[in-house]
Amino acid sequence: MVHIPVLLNETVAALNPKPGENFIDCTFGRGGHSLAILERTAPQGRILAIERDAESLSALPQELKEHPRIVFVGASYVDLGEIVREKEFENIGGVLFDLGMSSWHLEESGKGFAFSRDELLDMRYDRKSPLTAADILNRFPAAELRNIFQNYGQEKTAGKIAAAVERERKKKEIATAGQLAKIIEREAGARRWRAAAARIFQALRIQVNCEFEHIEKGIPAAFEIIAPGGRIAVITFHSGEDRIVKNIFRDFCRSGKAKTVYPKPMAPSEAEINRNPRARSAKLRVLEKVLAAEERNANDNQHYEQKNKNPGKKHCFQF
Ligand SMILES: C[S@@+](CC[C@H](N)C(=O)[O-])C[C@H]1O[C@@H](n2cnc3c(N)ncnc32)[C@H](O)[C@@H]1O
Repeated sequence: MVHIPVLLNETVAALNPKPGENFIDCTFGRGGHSLAILERTAPQGRILAIERDAESLSALPQELKEHPRIVFVGASYVDLGEIVREKEFENIGGVLFDLGMSSWHLEESGKGFAFSRDELLDMRYDRKSPLTAADILNRFPAAELRNIFQNYGQEKTAGKIAAAVERERKKKEIATAGQLAKIIEREAGARRWRAAAARIFQALRIQVNCEFEHIEKGIPAAFEIIAPGGRIAVITFHSGEDRIVKNIFRDFCRSGKAKTVYPKPMAPSEAEINRNPRARSAKLRVLEKVLAAEERNANDNQHYEQKNKNPGKKHCFQF
């Protein structure tokens, strides 16, 4: 199944790309959002395409890999500041974060992201990350597993499932998605085991990839590199990540350095959810950088001093 970009029209409208502007896609995935932005920034606007999963990048179609206006970087957006400096990427109109994983991860990566596929439980976007999902399941104390399932999955049977993992791994190492799915089915019951499995798999993925830490560092890094008027659009898929984004945006707004573009997060329409059920929990938040009051004052003073340096010319000062 191909990845269908979520909230595509809403995201492009919010970023408002114009011909010649450059944008950063911090989570390139299959490139759906980037291509829509490139249509609006033709003929010269470029995309800095960051993607943490090197295998996802190498599985892209050749013509996309060779797109003349896309600069690819295989890295995490946590290093955004450094990446932008290294690539000398300028004139940035906005930055996009479409969090989580793509349909490619679930269906083609072979990394054990889906509870319905009996693959090895890896779940690392970046194979250089130290721990796989199986490492965590087999090595972490039950109390820590419970916290992960609770905090990153909001799963109400977190304690029961953690205890069952601890019992099972004494008999046999837990290596595959199928083994974990069976444990969850036994503990959560036939009626709700699929919902529970989705939450437990999500929690493991977040832990394996330190997703929350990357969001907490990546968004402020994006804020640093955009100019006043530039926008940051973030699409989240569950309450844990949405809370982080909401709090970061709130702090920027309180400091007077930014404003939110919409009073409430945007959600997909019913038609979109029918077309693409994966969109059902999505939320889009958009922040715009503004000139902080001190910077405005400093600019005004500079302007005033410059005008005063030239006493020969008599005209009104314009602020
Ligand atoms: C939801 S998908 C993006 C889909 C994309 N917008 C599209 O239309 O095809 C999220 C992508 O972000 C990547 N990703 C996750 N965490 C990342 C990080 N910290 N840095 C860079 N990419 C990351 C994932 O590997 C995945 O490919």
